[in-house]
Amino acid sequence: MNAIDTMLQHRSIREFTDQPVAPETLDQILAAACNGSTMGGMQLFSIIVTQDKEMMRKMAPAHFNQPIATNAPLILTFCADFHRFDRYCECRNTPTDAYHNLQAYQWAVTDALIAAQNACVAAESLGLGICWLGTITYNTPQFIDILQLPKHVIPVACIPMGYPAHPDTPLTPKISNSTLIHHETYREYSEKEINTAYATMEQAPNNVNMVKENHFHNLAEDWVLRRYKKEDNEYFSDLLQKTITEQGF
Ligand SMILES: Cc1cc2nc3c(=O)[nH]c(=O)nc-3n(C[C@H](O)[C@H](O)[C@H](O)COP(=O)(O)O)c2cc1C
Repeated sequence: MNAIDTMLQHRSIREFTDQPVAPETLDQILAAACNGSTMGGMQLFSIIVTQDKEMMRKMAPAHFNQPIATNAPLILTFCADFHRFDRYCECRNTPTDAYHNLQAYQWAVTDALIAAQNACVAAESLGLGICWLGTITYNTPQFIDILQLPKHVIPVACIPMGYPAHPDTPLTPKISNSTLIHHETYREYSEKEINTAYATMEQAPNNVNMVKENHFHNLAEDWVLRRYKKEDNEYFSDLLQKTITEQGF
């Protein structure tokens, strides 16, 4: 599929067939991932390819045992990486301390996320399904340990992929594009616009059932009070901040 059709057909896929991903297919996905824009041409990312089920099982608890973390034939973990560039500077007797800070971390995260999304579009264009796993940013220290990441390397995106068990998985309801897009300057949303923006999601049967089962008044409460709770976010924020510092940024 061409790029635009691929992107417009995107839906997360969480179950896969047994069909393995051929080495040539994986190579194409990785080539696309590695050829994105990158800060200053420095390519501040690394990709860890996981195909070994034992490695998947080791990482599964840190992914909160989401079935996709072990059922996918292939997982790509994208890391913000200044270690390799540091090594290059060391080999050229050039100081490395210009990059052990938040600014450099942000560059490396951006490079890694560009690579990750390139891989997703490439994989989907070749008929594979993908699903991001945000758990990589929750239990980051465990992934650093299992993947043996050195200082100045932090995993920021994790994408299981494989051939979809259910290729006809429906598209996920989304906010209309015109609501997301601002021309020239940001415009504030009226309450009416907010009501319209979230109506499709609020009316989706899954979400209606979820709100009902949890005795909430609306979908916003389900998001804020159950799915992504303040106490969890604060706990994992502290952990992430500590990890970023410990990894040398
Ligand atoms: C940063 C990020 C983290 C995500 N984490 C998870 C996850 O841990 N488990 C999961 O099943 N889906 C995860 N997703 C997938 C989203 O739930 C999905 O993209 C979203 O609901 C929109 O649906 P769509 O991808 O089908 O369009 C994540 C997506 C992103 C971008």
